[in-house]
Amino acid sequence: MTVNTLPGKTSQQYEYASPPDFLEDAPKDAPVALMSRAERERLVERAILGLYRWYVARSQQMRNWNPDSEFAWRDLRQDHSDDVIQLIEGFFAVEQYTPDYTSEILEIVRKSSGRSNFQLRWGAEEERHANTWENALLFSRGRTPEAIEHYKWQLRNNNWTLPWDDPLHMLLYTVFQERATQINYLNFAKIARGESEKVGKSAADPVLARACTLLAVDEAAHYAFFLEGARLFLYYFPEETLQGIHDVISHFAMPAQNIIPNWPVIAETIYRTGVYGPKEFQRDVIGPVLENMTVAGRKALDNGLKRSKEIPNDQGVMRLTALWDVFDPGEAERSVMRLHDKIDTYETGIGRSQIDPIRFGANPDWPQA
Ligand SMILES: [Fe+2]
Ligand SMILES: [Fe+2]
Repeated sequence: MTVNTLPGKTSQQYEYASPPDFLEDAPKDAPVALMSRAERERLVERAILGLYRWYVARSQQMRNWNPDSEFAWRDLRQDHSDDVIQLIEGFFAVEQYTPDYTSEILEIVRKSSGRSNFQLRWGAEEERHANTWENALLFSRGRTPEAIEHYKWQLRNNNWTLPWDDPLHMLLYTVFQERATQINYLNFAKIARGESEKVGKSAADPVLARACTLLAVDEAAHYAFFLEGARLFLYYFPEETLQGIHDVISHFAMPAQNIIPNWPVIAETIYRTGVYGPKEFQRDVIGPVLENMTVAGRKALDNGLKRSKEIPNDQGVMRLTALWDVFDPGEAERSVMRLHDKIDTYETGIGRSQIDPIRFGANPDWPQA
């Protein structure tokens, strides 16, 4: 079996390629350690499908807003500083690549119905962010309609491409990226509420603050989705997932920086106004993500992976034991159980569980805290 491989990219670890006879692989109540790879893939896929359906229902119920009608754009301030306009333009630029983000990611997750359909929903939520920022630029009078049109044209001349070409690395990358975006918007909201230490009260604007806040809520929901997905992989494919986390952290950069023509100016403004920088990345992104993944820390991750690689490849179980102090297997399992409970409650509510109940493969041999 082969997967879609982009030219010049190498890593290929995980693929959604379970053959149709996978159900014969293991008894229904087999512990994870005894399951075939295909069976574990199937369980991940089933959980992601349930999570995606739960997500859509919640998104429609709680966050179904429109970027044109949700905000009192006519009341947006028209005297914002160059810095505030530059921040709006910068976020506008990053969100402009939503069609690329969606289509490129779709290409590598197309075998997963849960993940590929989720990307469409996610893309729809990201494009409304682009439209929100476009409205903010227009109504602030910070950029003329002609300047926005020209800028869009400049941006669209470049095509965003995947930082990783396999589904697992991309999933893990997105966990960090969504969290980082959420932090950016939360800090911009602080500026727009007049509560920023660096900018002071001068940029207070309730309309802008509300826009930033609603976008940050969307990003939090995206982060939660990808995090749940990543924890499923951590549970069913711990070694690959820990390696993937390590790889992603080592090479992390926010999307599209290298293709946005005026990125250096945007980045400088983002940093100087206290919205985002290396300190925020360490404290507000890496720290919480690793904690949510039950990973003990960056150093422990590096050391554990190094130790596990000293054990020959054919001793998978031994290799995993070298990673016990890198993450918390008991807590990782509990997080996956909580996810299954959430999906089961949702599916019981809609009646699906009577026909196709979601099941959980326990890992009885894992150390519990
Ligand atoms: Fe977004
Ligand atoms: Fe997002």
